[in-house]
Amino acid sequence: MKLPASAKIVEMGPRDGLQNESAVVSTEDKIRYIDLLSETGLQWIEATSFVSPKAIPQLADAVEVFTKIRKTAGVRYPVLVPNMKGYDRAKAAGADAIAVFTAASEAFTKRNINMTIDESLDTFRDLVAAAKRDRMWVRGYVSTAFGSPFGDKVTPAMVVDVSVKLMEMGCDELSIGDTIGVGVPSQVDELVPALAAKIELHRIAMHFHDTRGTALANLYAALSNGVHIFDSSAGGLGGCPYAPGATGNVGTEDVLYLLHSMGVQTGVNLDKVRAASRFIRGVVHHELTSKTFAALEASDARNRSVAS
Ligand code: HMG
Ligand code: MG
Repeated sequence: MKLPASAKIVEMGPRDGLQNESAVVSTEDKIRYIDLLSETGLQWIEATSFVSPKAIPQLADAVEVFTKIRKTAGVRYPVLVPNMKGYDRAKAAGADAIAVFTAASEAFTKRNINMTIDESLDTFRDLVAAAKRDRMWVRGYVSTAFGSPFGDKVTPAMVVDVSVKLMEMGCDELSIGDTIGVGVPSQVDELVPALAAKIELHRIAMHFHDTRGTALANLYAALSNGVHIFDSSAGGLGGCPYAPGATGNVGTEDVLYLLHSMGVQTGVNLDKVRAASRFIRGVVHHELTSKTFAALEASDARNRSVAS
């Protein structure tokens, strides 16, 4: 099977990762973390969310974080916005790339953003139009594409329907989320061609959480179906506080190891991502879930002890 020569990685650690941390992470540490990620070769780093601070207190310092990170040439820093209030705050802070987010599950959408799916699409229609007038880049998320945490049924047709509506309103890119990490490759094999029948493949990203250890298998299935944009988080941080049981995104280190070993280039330096993960591990005070991160840390420790 012919794999793509290169893939685009969208780093989620500062947003999806830190939104789910119970530890208080200082604004200064968030900025340092993003600045370290900016040195890795990553070209897309989702920096924070301009959502209600009551909904996500962890990212209440979005303005300060966004304005104080070192913006590296060639790196884009998209931010999440749920409504016009978030859009105005993001624009005032200088954002030039945003992401709107809805879902295929009605129950999840209600809990996450207190809107029905239709209400969210109505909200985003005006918001995306404003963003396009302001020449911003816009991503649209479709969460719970492989299953809902609340037991309501999600079908590929429902995912395609929401995706097409997001693209019709002017989104530049879609990200299809396995929010609670329940998906398996056979679902990816069914969903990606259904999406590709309506939306150009090069505009479709996959966003896998690794709750049940299926994220890399799903990523490989997506890659085999022609997808080449993947969301991941350094060390595997992450989860959605409104999706009970959701754990982190697939680790960026795991994705880089898999892709680079198969000859798919990303332009991202794995060791530099590890340095960012090492920094944030020291801040959140718990182990990280990325297996490649753990394996390389252990191997370095062995080498150091042999050398000493
Ligand atoms: P609501 O309560 O219906 O909104 O929440 P509201 O308009 O009634 O406002 C309530 C209060 O929030 C008001 O303040 C507003 O001013 C304020 P008060 O008058 O009570 O003092 N407010 C805001 N403040 C700052 N920025 C804003 C903003 N909007 C309202 N933008 C709302 C609706 C959408 C605001 C809320 O539910 C919300 O912010 N939700 C965000 C939830 C979230 O961020 N979830 C995680 C991200 S999604 C995810 O992780 C999935 C993803 O990774 C993909 C995947 O894994 O599948 C992307
Ligand atoms: Mg997520």
